[in-house]
Amino acid sequence: MDPNMISTISVIGAGTMGRQIALLAAISGFRTNCIDNNPGQVEDARAFTISYLQGRVDKGRLTDEQAQQAGSRLHFASDFVEALKETDFVIEAAVEKLEVKRELFSQLDRYCPKHAILATNSSYIVSSRIADATGRPEKVCNMHFFNPALVMKCVEVVKGVHTSEETAQVAVGLARRLNKEPVLLNKEIYGFLVNRIFSSITSEALYLIDMGIASPEDIDSAVVNALGHPMGPCRLMDMNGLDFAYIRRMERYRETDDPADKPAVILVEKYARGEWGKKTGKGFFEYEKE
Ligand code: NAI
Repeated sequence: MDPNMISTISVIGAGTMGRQIALLAAISGFRTNCIDNNPGQVEDARAFTISYLQGRVDKGRLTDEQAQQAGSRLHFASDFVEALKETDFVIEAAVEKLEVKRELFSQLDRYCPKHAILATNSSYIVSSRIADATGRPEKVCNMHFFNPALVMKCVEVVKGVHTSEETAQVAVGLARRLNKEPVLLNKEIYGFLVNRIFSSITSEALYLIDMGIASPEDIDSAVVNALGHPMGPCRLMDMNGLDFAYIRRMERYRETDDPADKPAVILVEKYARGEWGKKTGKGFFEYEKE
């Protein structure tokens, strides 16, 4: 399939990521379905779309007509069967649970046209753990967007052993049509590319705090002023949620049993005290409560 032949995209899940990816696709000119089995989420996503498009018009980034056209290309649904009939490409952004994704992919395989490619936006579940739930493993891959997906330019396309070269290239081509800068991983690896690099930086920052070498303020200052990052690792962990950082590391530690994967002491303490970052008003730094 030529990526230029893709005209209809279906996004599964209308949560944080799904609603943004769907809106991005509609703004980029694709007929888009956004499907979620929770009607409340569908309504929230619809309201988000209206307010986002109006915001773009107010800022002069889209004309009234462009916003209206994008809105009319985007269809929300809670029922799969009808919505998936004309899909060329699916991006699954449902909850991060393997069993949910496997069940979803088996349904997608049943209801999507035979030529359709099925990609998962999962942050950590590689598509080889899902592809065998379908009868078209060669058309299954990871396509990992970053939050906020409407803004962040990077998309990781990950090729599993089952993924055909054509599928990987179509996913890369589609990402470009969505005005992103795709990177292709030729093999599956835990955490893909960006989260591995980010995890190395945050692990080192946590180690330096645990050892009493430097404060979170000074670590962030060094990373910003010497390495040129826009934000230091401690503030970034606060933004993403220290609960998430702790849970992710604990899950990994349980999987590998490798002491190197054990969460840092400071992270365990922050998690136990409910100092989870911006969302709780305190993490490494203090914030006005959300
Ligand atoms: P979310 O919890 O905000 O949204 C998930 C949505 O999936 C919910 O609206 C839920 O109703 C829906 N859903 C659950 N089961 C479903 C089913 N069987 N059929 C249809 N819809 C179903 O989750 P979020 O944060 O949007 O994450 C979605 C995926 O994107 C996950 O795999 C996550 O790892 C990945 N991701 C998340 C990022 C983030 O920063 N939140 C960044 C990059 C990837």
